[in-house]
Amino acid sequence: MVAQQLVRIRDVRPKDMQAILSIEYKCFKDPYPLSLLNHLYATHPDGFLVAEADGKIVGYVIGVIRWGATGHILAIATDPPYQRRNIGSALMEHIISRLRANGAKLVRLEVRKSNAEAQQFYLKLGFREREEIPYYYEDGEAAVTMDYKLEV
Ligand SMILES: CC(C)(COP(=O)(O)OP(=O)(O)OC[C@H]1O[C@@H](n2cnc3c(N)ncnc32)[C@H](O)[C@@H]1OP(=O)(O)O)[C@@H](O)C(=O)NCCC(=O)NCCS
Repeated sequence: MVAQQLVRIRDVRPKDMQAILSIEYKCFKDPYPLSLLNHLYATHPDGFLVAEADGKIVGYVIGVIRWGATGHILAIATDPPYQRRNIGSALMEHIISRLRANGAKLVRLEVRKSNAEAQQFYLKLGFREREEIPYYYEDGEAAVTMDYKLEV
């Protein structure tokens, strides 16, 4: 709880990318390459937030408006030593409020079927399971899609 007070959520800056890439590699078996992170920053600078604590980047989230009024979460991760300190929740709350301000009526995401921890995280935030998409990931694993309806 003390750590939470020291965490700052802010817009990403180009100099943050190496730290974000390093968290990607720690957290995902199919990490986004630097070129994709840079592309997302260039095309959606207002949909890319980082969490800063102890003078470094400890988490990030990317969420963009797609398909009309749907906010799509493309990635979220908290550096493992900083997990379970509400940093992921703070990132999601900020990006959801930004997506809402940009016209989203619904927020959607995909999560690996085996990633029970992340599913728990999203359920606690109020997301609901929608459907399973077989063979969604390159290694053949299914995705579970989850939705969060925003109040109108
Ligand atoms: C999912 C992730 C972003 C959560 O970040 P976080 O900063 O640890 O999340 P929070 O501390 O805000 O967690 C809030 C709640 O979510 C749930 N939760 C989070 N991590 C969990 C875990 N490993 N197991 C079970 N529940 C979990 C808990 O209910 C938690 O509340 P609690 O700590 O009071 O019990 C983080 O685990 C992560 O980076 N995972 C690897 C990358 C990943 O899988 N991203 C999602 C891809 S779809």
